[in-house]
Amino acid sequence: MKQVARQARAEGRSTGFVPTMGALHAGHLSLVRAALAESQPVVASIFVNPTQFGPSEDFQKYPRTIEADRKKLEDAGVDYLFAPESSEIYPPGFRTWVNVEGFSERLEGRVRQGHFRGVTTVVLKLLEIVQPQKAFFGRKDAQQARIIQQMARDLHLDSEIVVCPIVREPDGLAMSSRNAYLNPKERRAATILFRALDAARISISRGERDALRLTAAMREALRTEPLAEPDYVELVDAETLEPVTRLRGVCLALLAVRIGASRLIDNLLIEERDGSFTTTL
Ligand code: PAJ
Repeated sequence: MKQVARQARAEGRSTGFVPTMGALHAGHLSLVRAALAESQPVVASIFVNPTQFGPSEDFQKYPRTIEADRKKLEDAGVDYLFAPESSEIYPPGFRTWVNVEGFSERLEGRVRQGHFRGVTTVVLKLLEIVQPQKAFFGRKDAQQARIIQQMARDLHLDSEIVVCPIVREPDGLAMSSRNAYLNPKERRAATILFRALDAARISISRGERDALRLTAAMREALRTEPLAEPDYVELVDAETLEPVTRLRGVCLALLAVRIGASRLIDNLLIEERDGSFTTTL
């Protein structure tokens, strides 16, 4: 992979990179399309990264569908699939970690300790191997994308981090490899994340700017779904990830909700433009 990457660089070509953990769905493929539109060659990686899973998390049962994934990437027009073994990425004696301090302990990081250290370490390694001009991430994982952008900035990485829109099912549920864990009843309940964010969106469109009232509206929506157990409901500044008291600049409404044995996340992007706010689900 490094040889291919070096050659592409030497030929002045602009490599696009889409890192994934596989079990590919239309969300992943939207990143591939974004990469294909701007880059050549396009590299996708599939690596279920053990270091970003906690000891009681779903590493063992994470869906692994490599043959179907390979076909999807080939059909989409990806030039290279990089699917390393765990022993290549973490050989015996491995002991170097990357951590984006402050951002990694909040929100997802509070519930999933060490999660983002695993993410940033593997993403830096993958970027070093693939050496892309641009790497594509989904806003579905908004905190992850923000942390990776910060790492790229702080470590003077050559790769530009591009953040792409959330792809949703027709009923609004954000696509996720983990949706495969939901039974039919849970799958119906899972639309509550979208509906709660939509409640905030409607509230904003009616002029609400107060963070407490907006998070209350989301909590109220979540309470209508008996299977939903919220982990957090927060309104934060998109740059600092710190809670805000009033909408200002670019903000994110972030949700993490447990449904049965699954934990789902979703978010709403809120952007101020000349005094008015646009929202993007
Ligand atoms: P994974 O969950 O496989 O996601 C790979 C990429 O697809 C991430 O950038 C994620 O934000 C994006 N993605 C997932 N669902 C999406 C959706 N519905 N719409 C748009 N984009 C979506 O995120 C990871 O893997 C890992 O943490 C990784 C970055 C690969 C490091 O191991």
